[in-house]
Amino acid sequence: MASTHGAHRILVASNRGPVTYEVREDGSLHARRGGGGLVSGLSAIGPEAGALWVCSALGDGDREAVRRGIGEDGVRMLDIDAEVHADAYNGIANSVLWFVHHMLYQTPLEPVFDAGFRRRWASYEAYNRAFAEALADEAAHSAVVVVQDYHLTLVPGMLRSLRPDLRIGHFSHTPWAPVDYFRMLPDDIAQQVLRGMLGADRLGFLTRRWADAFTTCAAELVGGLGDTRVGVHGLGADADFLRRRSHEADVEERMATLREQIGEGRRTIVRVDRTELSKNIVRGLLAYRQLLDDHPAWHERVVHVAFAYPSRQDLAVYRDYTAAVQRLSGEINAQYGTAGWTPVVLHVKDDFARSLAAYRLADVALVNPIRDGMNLVAKEVPVVSDEGCVLVLSREAGAYEELGEDAISVNPYDVIGTARALHEALSMSVGERAERTKRLAAAATALPPAQWFLEQLHELDQ
Ligand code: G6P
Repeated sequence: MASTHGAHRILVASNRGPVTYEVREDGSLHARRGGGGLVSGLSAIGPEAGALWVCSALGDGDREAVRRGIGEDGVRMLDIDAEVHADAYNGIANSVLWFVHHMLYQTPLEPVFDAGFRRRWASYEAYNRAFAEALADEAAHSAVVVVQDYHLTLVPGMLRSLRPDLRIGHFSHTPWAPVDYFRMLPDDIAQQVLRGMLGADRLGFLTRRWADAFTTCAAELVGGLGDTRVGVHGLGADADFLRRRSHEADVEERMATLREQIGEGRRTIVRVDRTELSKNIVRGLLAYRQLLDDHPAWHERVVHVAFAYPSRQDLAVYRDYTAAVQRLSGEINAQYGTAGWTPVVLHVKDDFARSLAAYRLADVALVNPIRDGMNLVAKEVPVVSDEGCVLVLSREAGAYEELGEDAISVNPYDVIGTARALHEALSMSVGERAERTKRLAAAATALPPAQWFLEQLHELDQ
């Protein structure tokens, strides 16, 4: 048996990997590297650790790269059948599990667990199995494997039966649904998800609240956690990287452009999100409109800079949501705008340097998700802010557990309450705002990504 094992001692598995490929017009492949906690975590352990990141090919470019044998050291991209992947990723992970954990269903009509759902579920199983088999193949004897997120809930259980020698962790980057909501899943599916995850030695969550919700689900639906341990690791912002990156020339350039778009002497309310249903961008715009209704004194004196980057555009609800964001921004500008003042500056094209520029300039950051595993924007803004920034933060964001005291908290559904919070934020004294920003930055950087990752490896070693 031992001779058939792979060579890797530390393995990470996630749907989205650290690199994606695009096919250029001349047929060549262009690699784009992503950031995030796992990328910093893995670079912290160094290449000599022989770590392997197993991920899925996501688009045509990735599939082409796999076929041409192009790839990066330490990354194995799985070329899972495109239809199977689409059903698993769009049809189950993003339309069912994401919706359950973020409580996004409009329940009189959705969800519907019918034959189509069962077919897509079979794809989700096949996709999880492809990961489990690849990991079983690549892992050295008693290696550590850390599986990421709701895409791969069945992998720990499958891998455990293929390779009982491995130490398996699973980390959830989302909230976990309260049991009364979670059990809208068909009983056998709910149990399969829980048992799949409980195949791990240890489960990690971003906050105590999500960890407790999982524990309750396990107690009520599958008779408890068994031997699996549950822990909390509140991923923080990467201060060193952010401070350095936000002072590079391209960020300075974008600050100049943004200053022009905002106009002299105006306050700035910034938000930066994927155009994601759970981020609550529409209610944020409604609250801003309410602020302008209630406080004419802010007319011409404030601009809402909203970055809503494209996400999951294969799903019609996400496309519709993007259109709603654009429509409402246009309406607000038509209603209130003047020759010299554009009340909402909306950008929908992804640009990280511009996000950092907006963080530096922001007087107020609006982070009002319906539910959010953590929300790193809330943690990044105070670190990068030039002159202090007031954080208006949803009490339903994971980050609220660590940042709530120095933020102005909002109920994300309460548009009038959010408008009031924006007014309070805009009116805060410069001194108080600077003090709060300092404390927010300290709390936001308490567990940098590298340590966040090492902590989990350490716990799996116990
Ligand atoms: C959330 C999930 C991640 C996911 C990311 C972007 O943060 O927890 O697993 O990668 O959203 O979504 P996408 O569907 O584009 O990968």
